[in-house]
Amino acid sequence: MKALVYHGPGKKSWEEKPKPLIKESTDAIVKILKTTICGTDLHIMKGDVPTVTDGRIIGHEGVGVIDEAGSAVTNFKKGDHVLISCITSCGKCEYCKKAMYSHCEKGGWILGNLIDGTQAEFVRIPYADNSLYLIPANADEEALVMLSDILPTGFECGVLNGQVKPGDTIAIVGAGPIGLAVLLTAQFYSPAEIIMIDQDDNRLNVAKTFGATHTINSANENAVEKVMSITNGKGVDAAIEAVGLPATFELCAAIVDAGGHIANIGVHGKSVTLHLETLWSKNITITTRLVDTVSTPMLFKNFQSHKLDPKKLITHHFKLDDIVKAYETFENAAKEKALKVILTN
Ligand SMILES: NC(=O)c1ccc[n+]([C@@H]2O[C@H](COP(=O)([O-])OP(=O)(O)OC[C@H]3O[C@@H](n4cnc5c(N)ncnc54)[C@H](O)[C@@H]3O)[C@@H](O)[C@H]2O)c1
Ligand SMILES: [Zn+2]
Ligand SMILES: [Zn+2]
Repeated sequence: MKALVYHGPGKKSWEEKPKPLIKESTDAIVKILKTTICGTDLHIMKGDVPTVTDGRIIGHEGVGVIDEAGSAVTNFKKGDHVLISCITSCGKCEYCKKAMYSHCEKGGWILGNLIDGTQAEFVRIPYADNSLYLIPANADEEALVMLSDILPTGFECGVLNGQVKPGDTIAIVGAGPIGLAVLLTAQFYSPAEIIMIDQDDNRLNVAKTFGATHTINSANENAVEKVMSITNGKGVDAAIEAVGLPATFELCAAIVDAGGHIANIGVHGKSVTLHLETLWSKNITITTRLVDTVSTPMLFKNFQSHKLDPKKLITHHFKLDDIVKAYETFENAAKEKALKVILTN
């Protein structure tokens, strides 16, 4: 089969690889129908994720069809269409029992990281019963690709951890696919004001059409002053970090109101200064989280009832064979006006 293979920082190729085989009775082999590229894959390509080694097939999102189910798989059979979760979970260990699938003792974020991933014609999914979701007939499969990672991430790490409530004023720093997923799912809770902060005017314009009440381009404007003027000098109830840089985390710390929440989503590669000299008395809560994907069934129901439209996040389409071109587009997101790209096998 063909697959996108990582060969060290800056090096990737679309090449021939052996088709995966069942290793454990709880595995399933899935033929990929649709997949995509994540901001995290770009981090991998830069060499920021040292657990990914030369020869690894990357990708952790997608929908597909069961090609073969191991003898212990009871929820799925050959021919079933499935959504692949970016998090693999056994469902049995101490962490899975706490619904903290991201820290599953036998899984977690392994796909396209510690084991071969979804940017391929076929993928092996361990613990298939707990790591895949059945897709009903006639579902919009490319929209569902947004449920593998970005929507549960935005909702769990941003909205739930930020404790967004009706009437809140919230700020989302970063208007990439993850920040926009926060924007879409925060509206389940009717916050009064949603301030979106980024340096890319195209993404800020998209955010306006998705329901942001204010946008701030922090490359041209003083974001702290602007947030303070919008909030009568108080700051926001929730500041949600969806970039992964020291500057954007520190911005969140500078704009949070007393009693508020800072919910970090970004993957950070550098240490960040925590200004406890100003924060110690402010009764704030800081959270971090690796997505657990426990909200996937809820998000799926809201998608089915048209309360959530993940398709809005898709801007480009490619054949899976053209994945190298798709990477170029996604790497130049501002110039290409790209959000999520869909690759069809
Ligand atoms: N915690 C988790 O489980 C989890 C899961 C998935 C992704 N992530 C992380 O979430 C982050 C966002 O992912 P994404 O796919 O949306 O990435 P992305 O790179 O597409 O988006 C980041 C956005 O931040 C903006 N930005 C960059 N520097 C900025 C600055 N100084 N000030 C304001 N905005 C700035 C960019 O213009 C871009 O729109 C990444 O760090 C990603 O690795 C975390
Ligand atoms: Zn991802
Ligand atoms: Zn587990």
